[in-house]
Amino acid sequence: MKAYTYKRYGPPEVLQQVTLPCPEPRDTEVLVRIHATTVSSADWRMRSLTMPPGLGWAGRPAIGMFGPRKPILGTEFSGVVAKIGNKVSQFQVGDAVIGFPGAALGAHAEYIILPQDGKIVAKPDSLSFAQAAALPFGAATAYDYLVNKAHVKAGDQVLINGSTGAVGLACVQIALHLGATVTAVCSEKNRAFLHELGVRETIDYAQTDFAADSTEYDMIIDTVGTAPWARSRHALRSGGQLLVIVGKLSDLIFGSLKARLAGKTLIAGVAHESREILQEVVTLAATGALVPVIDQEFPFDQMIAAHRYVDTGRKRGAVVVRLVDEPN
Ligand SMILES: NC(=O)c1ccc[n+]([C@@H]2O[C@H](COP(=O)([O-])OP(=O)(O)OC[C@H]3O[C@@H](n4cnc5c(N)ncnc54)[C@H](OP(=O)(O)O)[C@@H]3O)[C@@H](O)[C@H]2O)c1
Repeated sequence: MKAYTYKRYGPPEVLQQVTLPCPEPRDTEVLVRIHATTVSSADWRMRSLTMPPGLGWAGRPAIGMFGPRKPILGTEFSGVVAKIGNKVSQFQVGDAVIGFPGAALGAHAEYIILPQDGKIVAKPDSLSFAQAAALPFGAATAYDYLVNKAHVKAGDQVLINGSTGAVGLACVQIALHLGATVTAVCSEKNRAFLHELGVRETIDYAQTDFAADSTEYDMIIDTVGTAPWARSRHALRSGGQLLVIVGKLSDLIFGSLKARLAGKTLIAGVAHESREILQEVVTLAATGALVPVIDQEFPFDQMIAAHRYVDTGRKRGAVVVRLVDEPN
């Protein structure tokens, strides 16, 4: 099978297309022919070894001291089951599926193996393969933070700093779906798009500091790393929650303590990945409550160009890489 691998950290050009033996599923495993995958912000971080400030020391031990431990990137995919182990009961050959290997990676290849009870679920017919691949990374992160950790509810006033990336757009849609009122911090070019999604107010980050006026929110979500406790605290209502999806280590440690002393809560850390969360977001997408947003699509042979685009930090939603062309 064709796959992209890398042996050292660096720019997109460290990636190489190689041919590897196709893996064989064991008893309880399924082999999926990948139709579409994405280049996510996690792929960028792991390929370039770019960690949030203060967390660099954790990068190499976690990802690989002398080079990447997992040579194939790719956190999410859609595809069709190609082969199953002889004890597999949950899937059949030909089933269309969505998978979220997440931190386990491996989706930048023609085939991938997952355990049948892993992070893999049926693809709804209403989603194209490209849309299905664009869903898990952003949506599962947003769902775990907003629903499982912060329990966002109807009537909450939510501000999302960084509202147009894969994670931000899923935060926007999940918060709106659950009845919250959303203020989105974004650039001028994305304002109209966010209003179309149902966002009440947008704030252009190049023109206005959301924390400078007297508006208070029940929840502030930071997907950029520019809304730490020190900046956000006055914009948080008493009892409010700051969700730091990305931030400096020092802000996470001291911000948590200071938030607690101020009667507020700071939530941070790596989002939990599970099959249950994947199924929840796929169900939301199947009902139309969550629409995967695709910025650009690239053919598999242009994986390096897809990485270059993601490296700009300016994508809207997901960047999809297609392995199989088909009408959806
Ligand atoms: N804690 C966890 O477990 C977890 C899980 C997943 C991701 N993350 C982290 O979350 C972050 C976001 O991930 P992602 O996949 O959503 O990234 P992404 O898709 O690459 O985000 C790109 C978006 O960020 C916007 N943006 C850039 N600078 C901004 C600013 N100063 N203010 C507001 N928006 C800005 C851009 O909009 P413009 O082009 O309009 O500027 C663009 O739409 C990443 O750092 C990632 O590592 C953490």
